[in-house]
Amino acid sequence: MRYQLKQIGCRPWTLSGLSLQLMESHYENNYGGALRRLNAITEQLGSMDFEKTPGHVLNGLKRDQLTALNSTLLHELFFSSLGGDGTQTSKGIAEVLARDFGSLEKWRAEFRAMGYALGGGSGWVLLTYVPRDGRLINQFASEHSQAIASGVPILALDMYEHAYHIDFGANARAYVDAFFRNLDWPALEQRYEDAAKVPGPRPLIQPEFDGIPGIAVEEVKEMMAAGKPVQVLDVRPRHFVSRQQDIADGIEWRDPEQLQQWIGELDKSEPVVVYCAYGFHIGCKTAIKLRDAGFDARYMNSGHSGWKAIGHAIKRYG
Ligand SMILES: [Fe+2]
Repeated sequence: MRYQLKQIGCRPWTLSGLSLQLMESHYENNYGGALRRLNAITEQLGSMDFEKTPGHVLNGLKRDQLTALNSTLLHELFFSSLGGDGTQTSKGIAEVLARDFGSLEKWRAEFRAMGYALGGGSGWVLLTYVPRDGRLINQFASEHSQAIASGVPILALDMYEHAYHIDFGANARAYVDAFFRNLDWPALEQRYEDAAKVPGPRPLIQPEFDGIPGIAVEEVKEMMAAGKPVQVLDVRPRHFVSRQQDIADGIEWRDPEQLQQWIGELDKSEPVVVYCAYGFHIGCKTAIKLRDAGFDARYMNSGHSGWKAIGHAIKRYG
C-alpha cells in the first residue's frame, strides 16, 4: 500500500507572521520527507521475508515506520490547525475546554506553556480527545510517536526547529504566539465534534446478570469515607480468601455459601454492597439473593482486586 499525499490544510499566503518560505519548506521538506520515508519503509517491509529477517532489522524498520506515519499524520493536523484569525467566538468549544480544563484561558495557558517549554528542544504539543473518558487532554508527543493510545488529536503544534527557525530563529515563544494568532477555531470545533462521536472501549458485558445494579469501587470508597450509610461485605468464596490471605481494611468477610446464617445481621434500611474476587459471578449472585430478600443490594464491580488496584488499605486475613 502507498500512503497518499494530502494537500496543505491551510492557505499559506493568508497566515499572519508565518512566511510563505517557512510554510513551503515545512510542507515540502518535512511533511513530504516523512511521507516519502513512510512509503519507502512500507515498501521495504512489503517485500521482506519475515522468516529470514533478523529481529533487529525488523525492530528498526517498524520503529521507523511508526515515526514516519505519526509524523505524516501530525503534520497534516498541524497545517489544518492554522488558517484562522485566532478569534474564538463559538460557545461550544469554549464550554468543552472549560469542562475539561477549568476555563478556556486555563487550557490556552497550559497548551502555550507546553509549547514554550519545548523551545530549544523538539516535539509536538497536542490537544487530544480520549474516548475512554470522553475528555480532552494536552499532551507532549516526542519522537513523533508518543500519542495517547486510542486518543484522537484535534490540535497540533509542531515544536521541531524546522517549524519556526526560518522566521523566528531561536525565538520559539514568538512562534507559539503566532500559532495562536493563526489558530482556526471553527475547524478545531468541527474536529472536536467528530472526535466526540468515537465510542469508548466496549464495557464488560455479563448478560446473565443484566439488570443487577453494580457500583464502582471508587464510589463505594467515597461513600464510606463520607460516612454515608452503606453496608459493605466481602463475599469471596472461602477458597479465594484462604489463597489470597488479605482483606480490605474495615470490611468484614462473609461466606457466600452460608448466606442464611448472616443475612439477619443486615439492616434493610441501608444499602448493601457485596463483592467477590474480581466482580463476576459470586458477587452478582449474592446481590441477587439479597435483592430477592428485599435488600437494596448492589455488587461492586472489579471486586477485591479493584480495592487493591485503587490502593485501598489491605490487612492480612486468614
Ligand atoms: Fe514539522
